[in-house]
Amino acid sequence: MRSLRKTLLLVVLVSVVVVLAVLHSWPTRGYSTVDVWQRRGPLIERHLEERLTESDHQLSSIPIRIRDSVASLLSRNSCVCEGDSGRINLPFAQLLFPRVSAHPLHTAFRPSELDELKSRRAHEYHSFQKRSQTPADVLIVAEANSPLQYPTQGVEVRPLKTIIIPGLALHDIPRDHYIVNFTATLGSLNVAAEVEGVRVKGDGENHMTISSPALNSLNRQLQFVTYTNTLFHPSTADTVQFETEKHQASFVIKIRHGTTPKLYNTGSKQEYNVSALVTVATKTFLRYDKLQDLIDSIRRYYPTVTIVIADDSQNPKTISGPYIEHYIMPFGKGWFAGRNLAVSQVTTKYVLWVDDDFIFTASTKLEKLVDVLERTTLDLVGGAVREATGYTATYRQTISIEPGEEEGDCLHMRRGFHHVIEGFPNCVVTDGVINFFLARTDKVQQVGFDPRLARVAHLEFFIDGLGSLHVGSCDDVIVNHATKIRLPWVSQSESDKTYAKFRYPPASSDATQTKNGLLYFKNRFQCLTRN
Ligand SMILES: *[C@@H]1O[C@H](CO)[C@@H](O)[C@H](O)[C@H]1NC(C)=O
Ligand SMILES: *[C@@H]1O[C@H](CO)[C@@H](O)[C@H](O)[C@H]1NC(C)=O
Repeated sequence: MRSLRKTLLLVVLVSVVVVLAVLHSWPTRGYSTVDVWQRRGPLIERHLEERLTESDHQLSSIPIRIRDSVASLLSRNSCVCEGDSGRINLPFAQLLFPRVSAHPLHTAFRPSELDELKSRRAHEYHSFQKRSQTPADVLIVAEANSPLQYPTQGVEVRPLKTIIIPGLALHDIPRDHYIVNFTATLGSLNVAAEVEGVRVKGDGENHMTISSPALNSLNRQLQFVTYTNTLFHPSTADTVQFETEKHQASFVIKIRHGTTPKLYNTGSKQEYNVSALVTVATKTFLRYDKLQDLIDSIRRYYPTVTIVIADDSQNPKTISGPYIEHYIMPFGKGWFAGRNLAVSQVTTKYVLWVDDDFIFTASTKLEKLVDVLERTTLDLVGGAVREATGYTATYRQTISIEPGEEEGDCLHMRRGFHHVIEGFPNCVVTDGVINFFLARTDKVQQVGFDPRLARVAHLEFFIDGLGSLHVGSCDDVIVNHATKIRLPWVSQSESDKTYAKFRYPPASSDATQTKNGLLYFKNRFQCLTRN
């Protein structure tokens, strides 16, 4: 016993000594603080501004004539939302001549809280801008007749790694002595090889001078200039100053990790195996009879495709069967929360979104939608939904955002699309589609469905995804909508009544206010127009 204790004590002592020794000898690496906001250095800013305004002064006296037709296309700094005035009061007028309506969004808030809210929104927007911009976004102008040759774009380094800066050279009139300077801020400069007759000063630092009496030797040396990123701060960029007497240039080196791909192994078959490629996701609330019809119809055509169901009913029923995953959520969590949950559980390359009252038919050819996504760069492609009346809808929407000033931007949504997709005559490119779409799983997960949108919401997902989701729509892949038309002699079931209460709240309700409030604050819009 005693010897065991002794040994233990000895082991503890030795480890303490070892730890102390290690701590002591640990390289005292200079942990510099990184300005994660990534301001452009005052030096660079000054250079850029001086050069832009200098030429402005000289040229501003030359008269110009503005070409209105073109000038009016340049976006003004301040946008407005205007609806169509003058209404044609005809039956089906809205269907035949869709009229644009305009909606201010600040009305989602009480006038008393609006001022404070505006300043909070401005504050958040300011930090968003800082987060989303890097020096790589700064305008850099290559001057006429600069003897400096340098890369204008496409130089990239992984964090803390080294590269050779390509394309550097000096072209100059004959001189006795040639000298160039480099200045970097997030890394150091060096040379990977030495050239005889060339003097290098400041190598390994962020300001390096290279000089030589012979231009050829200097240019040879410039082929070996390296850049090492020393401050770890990925997804930014370093603006390197490159100068010789009377001439300056700046170029950008992007600092970033490579993008880690997320690939799905989809098997080696020539034909698309929908079960291996697609998961059907839906959200249900109370309507178990409709859901069962949907599942039965899917099974008729795709017996082994996985179906993920998010369910926030009050008294959830069991839904079981092969290839079914049923996720129970707290009661009434809502529409987008359910979509989020369902999509988060998908492990296939693609996810097909359907509503729980849809019915698959022989026209619901998922292979066609898979084909579009496999053969184009689109991320999401919508199909068509056929109503019991025979009317099919694709609900194509274009979305555009006009920049505004402090009041926020203007959001414009219009029915329609941008252009037909070559090779797919039934498909178009647009910005928003109906509740029946196939999408790349990882892209949908990235955009996400804002769980605050509990009741009426759909296009909000496409607004959040504008800029990152490429959206298409095909009208030859059709799913049926279980009848919405209630026949007067069939009484509505209890569950249908409760469903209607939650799903279709009156327009002036909290749900609409929440939606407008999110557009106003989260997306920083002042108003929206739509038809
Ligand atoms: C290069 O840098 C050195 C040291 O900072 C400076 O003395 C010199 O004037 C610079 N030369 C040019 C051409 O910018
Ligand atoms: C299709 O994929 C499923 C799931 O990965 C697999 O079980 C099935 O064998 C595949 N079918 C064919 C015809 O390859």
